[in-house]
Amino acid sequence: MEDRKKFYITTPIYYPSGNMHIGHTYTTVAADTMTRFKKMTGYDTYFLTGTDEHGQKIERKAEQAGKTPKEFVDEIVAATKDLWKLMEIEYDDFIRTTDARHEKAVQKIFRKFYEQGDIYKSAYEGQYCAECEAFWTPTQLKEGNLCPDCGRPTETAREESYFFRMSKYQDWLIEYIETHPDFIQPPSRANEMLNNFLRPGLQDLCVSRTSFKWGVPVDFDPDHVVYVWIDALSNYITALGYGSEDDSLLRKFWPADVHLVGKEIVRFHTIYWPIMLHALGLPLPKQVFGHGWLLFGNDKMSKSKGNVVYPGPIVERYGVDALRYYLMREMPFGSDGNYTNEAMLTRTNADLANDLGNLVSRTVAMIEKYFGGAVPAPHAEEEPDRALRERYEALPALVEKYMDELQFSLALSEIWKLIGDCNRYIDLTQPWILGKSEEGRPRLETVLYYLAECVRAIAVYIAPTMPKTPARIFEQLGVTDPELFTWQSVQKFGGLKPGTVVHKGAALFPRIDIAKELEILSGGDSGKNPDPQPQKQQKKPEAKAEETPKEEGFGLITADDFFKVQLVTAKVVSCERVPKSDKLLKETLDVGGETRTVLSGIAQWYTPEEMVGKTVVLVKNLAPRKMRGIVSEGMLLCASDAQGNLKLVTVDGGEFASGSEIG
Ligand code: MSP
Repeated sequence: MEDRKKFYITTPIYYPSGNMHIGHTYTTVAADTMTRFKKMTGYDTYFLTGTDEHGQKIERKAEQAGKTPKEFVDEIVAATKDLWKLMEIEYDDFIRTTDARHEKAVQKIFRKFYEQGDIYKSAYEGQYCAECEAFWTPTQLKEGNLCPDCGRPTETAREESYFFRMSKYQDWLIEYIETHPDFIQPPSRANEMLNNFLRPGLQDLCVSRTSFKWGVPVDFDPDHVVYVWIDALSNYITALGYGSEDDSLLRKFWPADVHLVGKEIVRFHTIYWPIMLHALGLPLPKQVFGHGWLLFGNDKMSKSKGNVVYPGPIVERYGVDALRYYLMREMPFGSDGNYTNEAMLTRTNADLANDLGNLVSRTVAMIEKYFGGAVPAPHAEEEPDRALRERYEALPALVEKYMDELQFSLALSEIWKLIGDCNRYIDLTQPWILGKSEEGRPRLETVLYYLAECVRAIAVYIAPTMPKTPARIFEQLGVTDPELFTWQSVQKFGGLKPGTVVHKGAALFPRIDIAKELEILSGGDSGKNPDPQPQKQQKKPEAKAEETPKEEGFGLITADDFFKVQLVTAKVVSCERVPKSDKLLKETLDVGGETRTVLSGIAQWYTPEEMVGKTVVLVKNLAPRKMRGIVSEGMLLCASDAQGNLKLVTVDGGEFASGSEIG
């Protein structure tokens, strides 16, 4: 009962080191769309966003700008709030890590960890990257002691620090993730966390700094400031009043239903954060969803690379709904996708100007032409009407299912199927022929009623993604009764009242001259760019001598890096389920005459029988790992789709000598 009607969603809190770009906008629009959807379907929602303002990076940026850190972030926070307003983002709270309410609560949290023995004091020496605010071990560093994240030189640093005993919670967390398959989404990210970080063993985490001041001071040892990630992650509960006198929001909304995060920070949210919460005695968020990145020419958009697209000029020219629609429609939420102005404009023309815009204007125009503007009453249903109504009535369940899975693009695609069906229904029923004769009139009445009722429903469905367009559609349809704007009203066909008077209005989405617009946009500034920073749209980032991945598993690697991985073909000789595990299969492989045992988390997708005889791809030089008491000597390559379904990578044609090298 408790969680049926409440919904708490968060975005990451963004670094105000520069103005927010379309990548940050993507997550925030997703959270807003989800919140609006949940609100519409009867939930009591809470949507939190904010800014992560502490740390050496901001301290240095402010210094370069000749400002105090607070002055520096205040300006960016103000611009961020303006941007969210422009994007029609309706958050319930905007937390800043410099808010007194947050700082006080973080101090309490840190003290509690210390008092209960989760945190101890020690010293740390190593190579430190000030840009990324991270110490790196010798094996992680790039040649020349360069930071593996940003490629900048690191400095040797020794710090007295507090450490969090992460290792104490490792087994509990592995068990938790294994027994809560919905916790980390998409599921492939859960495997990555288990295999890359948790099972190899957690190090104790350095959770304080003495080398800079711009942070939350440790109240019982003020030379130290709290590590930015402990500070930042706490926001999800401090905003609800954790540690304050009034924690009613916390009691109502915690645990969060979903934390939306970019894939590179899934690790912090699914390892450090759960451990912190467990140590605080709080339940874990129900889900952490790691979405993909908006790429720019296959590269991650980032301020430091100078390949950033800002939403301001796009919204100004094509409207906020067009951009929100594009962001939610173009790519599955778990996957990466390239952002290009051309793709955005092409989709706006196809889906919004043609499919949706034309449907609305044709429907309204025909009701005006044939019935003087009054929506006619329908007669007996015939075959094409029935098919359209069935699509209409199937839609709520489909949209709700996909929205609950955060598959915005699939939900929109279902809505657009109804739009497509309506357009085809016009072609099929040919109202312009029906309108020519008296005998055609009853059919025409039915056809135009069905279209108008579908258009009304479409306006309801698009509202979470496109908050401004529904009112314009309702106005053209002449619908004023708020009951007809609701989710409830689209559960059953027929809410629209015959006799409602329509009014033709301006085109919802005027057709865009793409070539012309691309030229204007690539000029870098459309006139009034709300971003105070110079626009660098459409410029490819300058290739650096050596690009390095931003985070393990993502970004660019060198050919040398790639060839470190020994990939070979292997033949599955026998296979069985691993007792007491739903996920694991144990394969015995023939690898060019050598026998290997490998465990793979693919039992959901393959039976042992299906596995035998397959020629698969093995990562041969992966360090052996013990799982469920069995040593796994390598890993089989699989492809994973946005939902985390796995398919084995096999060799074209199936049969091939085992032990053959791949690369
Ligand atoms: N401050 C931390 C988060 C702390 S949360 C407790 C942080 N900030 S960030 O500003 O660097 O990034 C915030 C979010 O924006 C991340 O989820 C990141 O993935 C997302 N994006 C930044 N650029 C992006 C794209 N180009 N595409 C999609 N999302 C991207 O990390």
